[in-house]
Amino acid sequence: MAPLSAGNSTVPDLSGRVALVTGAARGIGRSISEVLADAGAAIVAVDILEAVETVAAIEQGGGHAHAVAGDVSSRASVGQAVARAVDAFGRLDIVVNNAGGRRSWFQMSSGAVGPIARPQGSRRPSRKQVST
Ligand SMILES: NC(=O)c1ccc[n+]([C@@H]2O[C@H](COP(=O)([O-])OP(=O)(O)OC[C@H]3O[C@@H](n4cnc5c(N)ncnc54)[C@H](O)[C@@H]3O)[C@@H](O)[C@H]2O)c1
Repeated sequence: MAPLSAGNSTVPDLSGRVALVTGAARGIGRSISEVLADAGAAIVAVDILEAVETVAAIEQGGGHAHAVAGDVSSRASVGQAVARAVDAFGRLDIVVNNAGGRRSWFQMSSGAVGPIARPQGSRRPSRKQVST
């Protein structure tokens, strides 16, 4: 699949893909959700707030979206959000870890998504830590 380009003119066809976006209720996360939905992805909109407006906007545009209440600083909540994504759409292809910054328990690796293992002696998961 081609990468997203800087001018947004060659966003790939994401039909059949499922994208989970954190902080999707407003701001950057909402915009990312709508761009990915326009490209054909089904969106799992995760936020500590109700992401109902994001879901409504996507559905009005003919897309598919599901709001999930979740706090990315909670490992249990992240696990539940991933499970809800798979429940809703049967798969998960893309994670946009927009919210929470260094407090997030999301990680991205080569095709796998899971909670970050907390490094020994660290109070927070490392944003750069990637497992395969
Ligand atoms: N806007 C900027 O110029 C800018 C610049 C650099 C970095 N960022 C970062 O980008 C991200 C998004 O920025 P924004 O401007 O859209 O922010 P925003 O405050 O408009 O939206 C953030 C969203 O994330 C949600 N959120 C916050 N903590 C959460 C948590 N623990 N779990 C789940 N959802 C949570 C909020 O409810 C909100 O809907 C933030 O992490 C921000 O620090 C933004």
